[in-house]
Amino acid sequence: MLTAFFLEATFLGVMLFGWKRVPPWLHVFAAVAVAGGTAVSAFWILSANSWMQTPAGREVRDGVAYPVDWFAVIFNPSFFYRLPHMLTAAYLTTSLVILAVGARYLLAARHIDEGRTMLRMAIGMLAVLGPLQLLIGDQHGLNTLEHQPMKIAAVEAHWDGSKPGALVLFAWPDAKTETNLFEIAIPKAGSLILKHDPNGLFPGLKSVPPSDRPPLVPVFFAFRSMVGIGIIIIGLGLVGVWLWWRQTLFDARWYLQLAAHSWWLGFVAVISGWIVTESGRQPWVAYGILRTADAVSPVPGASVATTLGLFVLVYGVVFTMGIYYINRLIALGPQGRAAEPPHTGTPVRPLSAAIDAAREISSPQR
Ligand code: HEM
Repeated sequence: MLTAFFLEATFLGVMLFGWKRVPPWLHVFAAVAVAGGTAVSAFWILSANSWMQTPAGREVRDGVAYPVDWFAVIFNPSFFYRLPHMLTAAYLTTSLVILAVGARYLLAARHIDEGRTMLRMAIGMLAVLGPLQLLIGDQHGLNTLEHQPMKIAAVEAHWDGSKPGALVLFAWPDAKTETNLFEIAIPKAGSLILKHDPNGLFPGLKSVPPSDRPPLVPVFFAFRSMVGIGIIIIGLGLVGVWLWWRQTLFDARWYLQLAAHSWWLGFVAVISGWIVTESGRQPWVAYGILRTADAVSPVPGASVATTLGLFVLVYGVVFTMGIYYINRLIALGPQGRAAEPPHTGTPVRPLSAAIDAAREISSPQR
């Protein structure tokens, strides 16, 4: 874990600040090392987190969990679903940012060659990884049903396990009345997805006392936000491929506009996914063996509030600086070149013609 952090931190510096200071091969190597380092970090972080969801390879003595099989601890039952789901989520998030920046360059008729390459790379990634994420997510959900049935019951707002589950598109799950208010649902479709049988049964929330249920509203809505964005991502990828195939991608201003505004989708999907995972694990810290209430440290509330306040402050400063720096890099464009002269085309001309005109004007500078 430490090796991975050092690898990332060292080569991130070379990657961000070394563009003009190191040879191109070393810059590429630094980028690959950062990607490798983050993947290794992700491996260990997700192994630890997965253990909290599906704590295997341990034995509980006097209320304390002791590892008895490290292999089972590391490669616990939900790890092989969580790792690919999270890595794919990270690659999709990155692809959306690249898609948006590339589209913005093309709409502004700046850095045209680079913008086109960015658009092609991002669309290729979205078209392959978007549908793959849906498949991984589906398998991930089946694994969760097996190990954390109440998380899935909350995701599906499924109360009564003696009846087939509907696919609830919208509702307000009401813990007091133990029903769904304002429900819009497709009967039996939940059972079809989770049991591959329209009449299949899976546990409902009522099968455990209220104190053993996760908070319903955040889990229910975060799941719909994640999957909804997943579907938009698949659409962006497939429509992009279609336009590319028809050779109208760089003229489709409406698509470029959509793409230019899609940079935030991945971040929201990732946060939503983690809300499903962590809120859905409640009321447990380690599922089935340690309750959150029993894991609370004897620290005064004021100390917790101060630490939290400091975290918010420090991260606020770091993120603000990071966002400022990334925006500056985007504004400068590839290789830190200043903006090319704006294109001279009239609005009625196709975008590609305007782009070609801008390229001719800017070519002496290259
Ligand atoms: C397209 C359909 C998708 C399905 C069916 C799906 C399914 C799931 C499920 C069932 C979980 C919770 C598993 C658990 O806690 O045990 C989850 C978590 C998560 N999802 Fe998704 N997901 C989808 C799309 C996405 C997308 C597009 C992203 C991000 C770009 C994403 C990011 C995450 C993250 C970060 C988590 C938390 C980590 C984890 O538990 O794997 N998901 N997803």
